[in-house]
Amino acid sequence: MEVKLLSGALGAEISEIDLKDSSKENYKKINKLLLEHKVIFFRNQDISHEEQIALAQNWGPLENHAYVKGLDKHPEIVRIVKTKEEKNQWGENWHTDVSYNVKPTKAVILKSIKIPPVGGDTCFSNMELAWETLDENIKEKIKDKKAIHSSLGAEFFIDNYKGMTGHKERNYDEYSNEHPIVRTHPETGKKILYVNWTYTKQIIGLKKEEGDEILKKIFEHQARLDLTCRFNWTENTVAIWDNRSVLHYAIADFYPGRGLGHERIMDRIAIEGDQPH
Ligand SMILES: [Fe+2]
Repeated sequence: MEVKLLSGALGAEISEIDLKDSSKENYKKINKLLLEHKVIFFRNQDISHEEQIALAQNWGPLENHAYVKGLDKHPEIVRIVKTKEEKNQWGENWHTDVSYNVKPTKAVILKSIKIPPVGGDTCFSNMELAWETLDENIKEKIKDKKAIHSSLGAEFFIDNYKGMTGHKERNYDEYSNEHPIVRTHPETGKKILYVNWTYTKQIIGLKKEEGDEILKKIFEHQARLDLTCRFNWTENTVAIWDNRSVLHYAIADFYPGRGLGHERIMDRIAIEGDQPH
């Protein structure tokens, strides 16, 4: 096995592990790498939908997305599609997946199907490091507070993407929940800064103005490049990220004459998480 670190902050590209092998032993090896690097990538993994599902089930029950319709044959697989002429793509700002749920996603297994010749990299940011390096005054103010996460940030996710379909019935009000701003990782025991630009709307127990000012500073801090890594996709690459301890950002740099005019397609499976504490 070879491990190539992607940046000084997080992320690794792993070779000589076969993801068709969904045995417990292989899972243990992969999960150890996941906890260590927080996001891991495996190139040239031509796995089927069934193999992707079998691999994912090692982490726990799979999740159906609240808003986006899955594949007819495999509803637990969401196909993320950016059509040729679309400038925008799903997930194009800093977020953790479905943090508005009571139990946000534990991990995501994403397989690239079609990748444009240029554009569409994904960035990840390490939220353990974000907590460690956060301004001490801000830490003191937020360490025991909770924040409201709302799916209203996800509305634009559904109807604005030509190649994707939402569920027929949607209830945005259902998906607003409170989580601790600093959560403890259930497997490593590490502290994690658990708010994000897309879904976190308010700090409970602070005046709106003061809370908003602090959130703005935190969001800027989380986006610091020295906390991140950036991955350049090739087709048939599988990414696994720990959705509890990283933020991610799918860069929509599809500008005319360069990135525009190409499809980008990914198959996503999410694993159920637990309630942050
Ligand atoms: Fe996402």
